[in-house]
Amino acid sequence: MSEQSGTVVCPGSYDPVTNGHIDIITRTSNVFERVVVGVVNNPVRKAKTLFAAEERKAFIEEATAELPNVEVQIFANLLVEFARDNEAKAIVKGLRAISDFEYEFEMAQLNRKLDPGIESIYVIASPHYSFLSSTGVKEMATFGGDVSDLVPPAVATALGERLGDR
Ligand code: PNS
Repeated sequence: MSEQSGTVVCPGSYDPVTNGHIDIITRTSNVFERVVVGVVNNPVRKAKTLFAAEERKAFIEEATAELPNVEVQIFANLLVEFARDNEAKAIVKGLRAISDFEYEFEMAQLNRKLDPGIESIYVIASPHYSFLSSTGVKEMATFGGDVSDLVPPAVATALGERLGDR
């Protein structure tokens, strides 16, 4: 498929990034000219992140190093402002299951109210990642489960160091 011109943002907490996120970012980068991955500094939905924003950003940068049209930034403002700052025409997020839909539906409506000029686009998760979440990966790592085929190698190492001996 030839790439659409222009920029889109792929926002998230990415605490930490999983192979499911990387799949969505990669597929988005196949469609759009420039993809800015936005790592939210302090996610509202999570009291405290396991990894600092700079660490979360570095994991994504390493895992997307071979995708020349992908860059990673930390943001701490409204998502539509972050999108506007990057001259993005759309917000792209992954959708795994019905359980994601309600939250994403609300977010898309709020973002549309804040800026009707920025479209929300949802990419359906690949079947083999449809069960995968950052929360699930952290739970597995806490209890010594093998997460090596679910996250990039640097993330697996960091999870082992930070959670493995709890
Ligand atoms: O990975 P997540 O937790 O689904 O990502 C959530 C994220 C970063 C997309 C969301 O928390 C967000 O957009 N935060 C910035 C504040 C904002 O603009 N919220 C939506 C409209 S009120």
